[in-house]
This record gives sequence, structure tokens and C-alpha cells, in this order.
Amino acid sequence: MAIIGSGPGGYVAAIRCAQLGMKTAIIEKYSTLGGTCLNVGCIPSKALLDSSEHFHNANKTFADHGIEIDTPKVNFEQMVARKQGVVDQTTGGIKFLMDKNKITVFEGMGSFVDEHTIAIKGEKEEKIEAKNIIIATGSKPTELPFAKFDKERIISSTEALKLKEVPKKMIVIGAGIIGLELGSVYARLGAEVEVVEYLDRAIPTFDGAMSKEITKSLKKLGLKFHFSHKVSDVSRNGDTVTVTASNKKDEEVKFEADYCLVAVGRSAYTEGLNLEGAGLKAGDRGKIEVNDKLQTAKSHIYAIGDVIKGAMLAHKAEEEGVFVAESLAGQKPHINYDLIPGVVYTWPEVASVGKTEEQLKEEGIAYKSGSFPFRALGRARASGDIEGLVKILSHKESDEILGFHVIGPRAADLVAEGVVAMEYRASAEDISRMSHAHPTFAEAVKEAALAATDNRPLHV
Ligand code: FAD
Ligand code: NAI
Repeated sequence: MAIIGSGPGGYVAAIRCAQLGMKTAIIEKYSTLGGTCLNVGCIPSKALLDSSEHFHNANKTFADHGIEIDTPKVNFEQMVARKQGVVDQTTGGIKFLMDKNKITVFEGMGSFVDEHTIAIKGEKEEKIEAKNIIIATGSKPTELPFAKFDKERIISSTEALKLKEVPKKMIVIGAGIIGLELGSVYARLGAEVEVVEYLDRAIPTFDGAMSKEITKSLKKLGLKFHFSHKVSDVSRNGDTVTVTASNKKDEEVKFEADYCLVAVGRSAYTEGLNLEGAGLKAGDRGKIEVNDKLQTAKSHIYAIGDVIKGAMLAHKAEEEGVFVAESLAGQKPHINYDLIPGVVYTWPEVASVGKTEEQLKEEGIAYKSGSFPFRALGRARASGDIEGLVKILSHKESDEILGFHVIGPRAADLVAEGVVAMEYRASAEDISRMSHAHPTFAEAVKEAALAATDNRPLHV
């Protein structure tokens, strides 16, 4: 088995293949393993989110808790160095796992010579042959045609994770996940942050209630939002970037800042892979097409993760890596694509699984909705994290949970209860009758389930 790309899709596939007794090689063009997620994605962004959240709390909430400190200052160089330390430790951990599982690691750019042969161009050039191959080459930031990344002032998330200074002002194009997460980091550190979004709400793929609540919370943090704005130009003059957009009334609006973060999505990455060499070609928007077994047009070449259709999330890529390995070993694995949770690591966090209320309406499915605000919860008042709510959508007749949406403290962890419940096709009543430890944030889930079942939450 040869796997091209060592992100969460590739490295997890490699481990599972090795566990199942396959002789496995992984090819990575960079000197560190772990792909986007570990090097310039999930892990470094969460490290900066956590550090900046500590700073924010030191400034804003410590006094309320009765902790008096002198005005805290940001040592941004140290914050970024710590983040890099976390990344180095985590990517080093993947190298350890490769060695432990006796997986051969090739450092270099992999490209197809033919459908069983891959050339690897690293310090030296070599060729390997494999019976089966997994393409796990991931994605890269999407560039707007009029806003080429100069990587200094007009930047993608990759540069935003390693700036040398806290911007005075940052324009973020795109109120999606990256825009809100990295916008939060810099707003907490003192930057003025303005977000320009094409659609009429933030995180538009999430339930409308989540968009509304997170916008409210982030406005309190200081972010300014400009929805329904179509960006037409981004230009740089010295240290100033000017973003030109047109608003709903078709009026031209200009924004100026010292940095502009473009976060309008990511695109599948297959450059240099020479798909044609294997008799393959990229399909819609550069993505590699696969069937429901994740096979490409060549049945022994599989593709997984960001380079194929579906949510561009690390845990989705991981599931697909395991799926391919187990399929090849003759097992019958299954992925429920409807139940891949999505999380935004702002504070409060947003996490969802299943259908949004908008989707249920569009699909004409009769549903009930139950919500519970964190401010009514003892645990939330104790920690001071009272923003947000849990919203559960269940089928009007059967009460089966169809959507599970949380904005609030530890939402990223709370959503796991929704996934488990929905995988077992639980009803809202099922959750409402299970004991939830007191005092916990999870009690909000039980209360929302009570509200969805027959509108009888206990604490509001
Ligand atoms: P990737 O992680 O992109 O890995 C692909 C690897 O293949 C790369 O290392 C690349 O160098 C290598 N490669 C490409 N072509 C070749 C070649 N020809 N030869 C050799 N090697 C090659 N997802 C979450 O679930 N949770 C999060 O909190 C989260 N946060 C994110 C934050 C940011 C800022 C970003 C940008 C993304 C975040 N994501 C998050 C998304 C997540 O990083 C991706 O969904 C995930 O990394 C996809 O995994 P993958 O294995 O498909 O590809
Ligand atoms: P995104 O798809 O989440 O958001 C992009 C936003 O930009 C959307 O709201 C879209 O309407 C808007 N947009 C698109 N074109 C525009 C334009 N021309 N002008 C103004 N707005 C425009 O993409 P994002 O934030 O770049 O993140 C990419 C992907 O990376 C995510 O979709 C997700 O899959 C992954 N990711 C996951 C994270 C997590 O799980 N916590 C964190 C960060 C990224």
C-alpha cells in the first residue's frame, strides 16, 4: 500500500493499513508529517485560540472572579513560539507512530509514473511500486482572482498563524470558520477586526440560530460584520491594504487595514501529482471523483479527505482513511456522512450535527424544536460562561433527533452526545430521561431535549 499525503486522512489510513498487516509506505512532500491539520490548520489555530482566550480572560473576566493582576501584556513572539512548540510535538508524535507501526516514510513530492508506480522527488529521486494506492493530498487556501496572496499583507490562514506582530487592523474576507476563529484570535489580542461576507450571515452552513448567536457574541468581542458585501478588489499600497466591495444597495464601500486575511474556502490540491500518469483526471472544482467505496476510476487507486467531495474536516478524512484500509482487508466498514459533526472554536464554541432548521423546512420534514439557554444553568453561572444555547430538532411524529446544535461553553465536546444519540437513532425523550451529572454544561442538552419532547424544561 502506498499513500500520498500525510495529513489526518493519509497518516490514519497508513496506521490502519499497517495494523491490518499491509506493507505500507507514506509519501509526504514536506519534512514534517501531519498535513494541513497538524502544521497549519487545526492544531496551531487551536493553540493560538487558547492562548488568546487566556489573555482575553486575564483582561476581562479575572477581576470579576476576584483575581487582581496588573494590566496583562501580550508577548506575541512567545505566543507564536509556543504554538510552534505544540505543532512540533504533535507532528513528532506522528513520526513516532509511523515508526512504531513500521510504516516507511518517503520525504518528497509524489507523482504518478503509471497506475502502479510513483516517482518521489525529494533529496534524491526514487520510484516505488504499489498494488494499491491512496491519494490523500488534501487542500490549499482558495485565492480570489483579484486578491493574490502576497503572504505579507494579503494573507491566507497559513500566514495568519505565524505573523510577526499583532495587526492594528485586519480585514477578514469570509465569515466562515477560519474567518471567525482567526478573527477572534486577533480581536482578543487587540486588533480591530472587520469581517466582509458575501452572504447575509456568518457561518452560513450552520443552523440560523447559531449564526445569529455567534454574531452577537463576536460583536461583543469587538468584531464588526459587513454582510451581503461582494468584494471586487483587494490592493496593497505599502503597508496598507484596501478592500473594495459593493453592498446590498450596490454602493461601493472601501475598507483599509494593515492586513487582509482571505478566508473564502479551500480547494482540492493535486498539483504535481500527475494524475494523468495513472490515467486519472481531476473533476469538478479540482476534486478527485470517487465512488461510494472511495475508489477512483482506477479501482486500486483510492482518494480520501479534502481532495474529494464532502466536508473538509480532519475527522472526516480520518474516517475515510480507516474505511479504505478496512475495505481492502475484506471488512465491511461504514461512514455515516450525515453525522459528521462540525465545530467552530470561537468562544462561545459552536458545534452541530445533523440537519439545520433551514434544511428541515426546505425538505418539508415536520419537526419540533427545543432550546435551552446556558444562562439558566448553575454550572455556566459558576464559570461565568453564560452565553449560548442548546437547540435540538426532533421529528414531529417519531421524536427522533434530526438536528443537534450547540453554541456555548465546551460545545465542541458536548456535540459528541448528539452524535452518539443520533447514530443510535435516539428520540429527544430518550436523552431527556437519561441522568446527566450535576452541575455540568451537559445538563443543557437534557433540558433542550425536555423542551423538544413536550416543552417541559425544568429550569426555565
Ligand atoms: P491535508 O491535511 O491537507 O494533508 C495533505 C498532505 O498531502 C499535505 O501534508 C501535503 O503536503 C501532502 N501532499 C500533497 N500533494 C503531495 C504530493 N504530490 N506528494 C507528497 N505529498 C503531498 N478541521 C477540523 O476537523 N478541525 C479543525 O479544528 C480544523 N481547523 C482548521 C484550521 C485551519 C486554519 C485550516 C486551514 C484547516 C482546518 N481544518 C480543521 C481542516 C483540516 O485541516 C483538513 O480538513 C484536513 O487537514 C484534511 O486532511 P487531508 O488528510 O485530507 O489533507
Ligand atoms: P468556509 O467555507 O467555512 O467559509 C468561507 C466563507 O467565505 C463563507 O461564509 C462564504 O460565503 C464566504 N465567501 C466566499 N467567497 C466570498 C467572497 N468573494 N467575498 C466574501 N465572502 C466570500 O471556508 P474557510 O473559513 O476558508 O475554511 C475552509 C475550510 O477549512 C472550512 O470550510 C472547514 O472545512 C475547514 N476548517 C475547519 C475548521 C474547524 O473544523 N474548526 C477551522 C478552520 C477551517
